[in-house]
Amino acid sequence: MEYRNPEIAKVAKQLHRKFEKLEDKQTILRAAELTALYDRIKTLPAGKRASFGKEANELKKELEILIRKAETSNLSPVTSIDVTAPFDINVPPELRPKLLPAENGSRHPLMTELEIILDIFSRMGFTAVESRELDDDYHMFGSLNFPKDHPARDDYDTFITDEDLVAPAHTSTMQNRVLKEYRNQLKAGQSIAVVIPGRVFRNEDVDASHEHTFYQLEGVYVDKGIHAGHLVATLKAFLEEYFQQKLDVKIQPFYFPFTEPSFEFAMNCPFCAKAGCAVCKYTGWVEILGCGMIHPKVLKMAGVDPVIYTGFAWGFGIDRLVMMKYGIEDIRHFHSGNLKFLRQFK
Ligand code: DAH
Repeated sequence: MEYRNPEIAKVAKQLHRKFEKLEDKQTILRAAELTALYDRIKTLPAGKRASFGKEANELKKELEILIRKAETSNLSPVTSIDVTAPFDINVPPELRPKLLPAENGSRHPLMTELEIILDIFSRMGFTAVESRELDDDYHMFGSLNFPKDHPARDDYDTFITDEDLVAPAHTSTMQNRVLKEYRNQLKAGQSIAVVIPGRVFRNEDVDASHEHTFYQLEGVYVDKGIHAGHLVATLKAFLEEYFQQKLDVKIQPFYFPFTEPSFEFAMNCPFCAKAGCAVCKYTGWVEILGCGMIHPKVLKMAGVDPVIYTGFAWGFGIDRLVMMKYGIEDIRHFHSGNLKFLRQFK
C-alpha cells in the first residue's frame, strides 16, 4: 500500500521488514514505531491531524490483514468445506476474492437447451419428472429386465459406492418409478406420457465424444393400442421442432433388455441434408437415440398389465443433441468452464 505522508510511508516500510522476522505476528501492533505515530497526532497542527490519523489507521489495518493472512496460512486443514460456496468461507471477509457481478454470468447452454426441449414435450402433452443422481441396483438393472450377470450390464459400467448405491448410467432407472406413479391414470383412460431429464455417469475413456458425466432425456409413453408407428411419429415431431427443419428419420434393429423390439433411431444430417459432411461422417445420417417398445416384463414389474397396455420409451443424450444443433465438436467443452465457449451462448 502507498502512503502519501512520508513519515508514515517510512514507518510502514520499517514495520513490514520487522513483521517478516517476527515469530508472534500479533506483537507488530504493539511496535514502538506504530505507537509513536499515534502519539505524533497530538503534536500536529489541527489542520493536519485528520489526514495523518486516517493514514495511520490505514497502516494499522494493513498490519491486521497481514496478521490474519499469516495465521490462516498456518491453519491446520479445516474439517469440512462447503464446495458449493463461491469462496472458502473460512477466509476472513477482507481476504475473499472479489466476485464478478451477476450480470457477467449466463445460463449454461445445456440448461437453456433443456428448457427448450422440455417446452416442446410439454406442448406435446408430456409431464417432466427429474431423475436422481444416486440410485440402486434394482432400478439400474433389475427393474429393466437385465438378468443377473448378463453381459448387457457391461455397457453401463459406472460408479458404485461402498454401500452399493449406483451413480446411474442412464435415465431409464426412472422407468419403473414413473410407471408405478402414473399407472392409475391408465384406468381413468389417460395415457402415461412422461419425460425424464437427468444427469448420468459412466466409467468412460473421455474423448471428444465421450464424457464420464452427461445428461439424458428419457421418455415413456403407455396406453392401449400403442405401437412403433407412434414412437417414430412422436420422435420425428420432436426433432423437427427442435432443429426447426423437416427431417427424414429411420429406425434400425438394436438390442436393449428393457425394450422389445429395440431400435436405434437415426435422422438425416441437419447440416448437409444427406449430401455427406464431417458431422455425419459422410453417411448423410446421424444416430441420435435408443428406443423401443417397452418390454412386457418391465411393464409387469411396475404393475401395468402388458396384455391390455403397450408403450414406447426412448433415451437420448442431451449433450449430443445440443452439439448437433450448434456444430459443437467436443463434448468436453460443456464441463470445461471455458468462458470463451460459454459466452457464445449468452
Ligand atoms: N438407456 C439407454 C442408454 O442409455 C437408452 C434407451 C434405449 C432408453 C431404449 C430407452 C429405450 O428408454 O427404450 O443407452
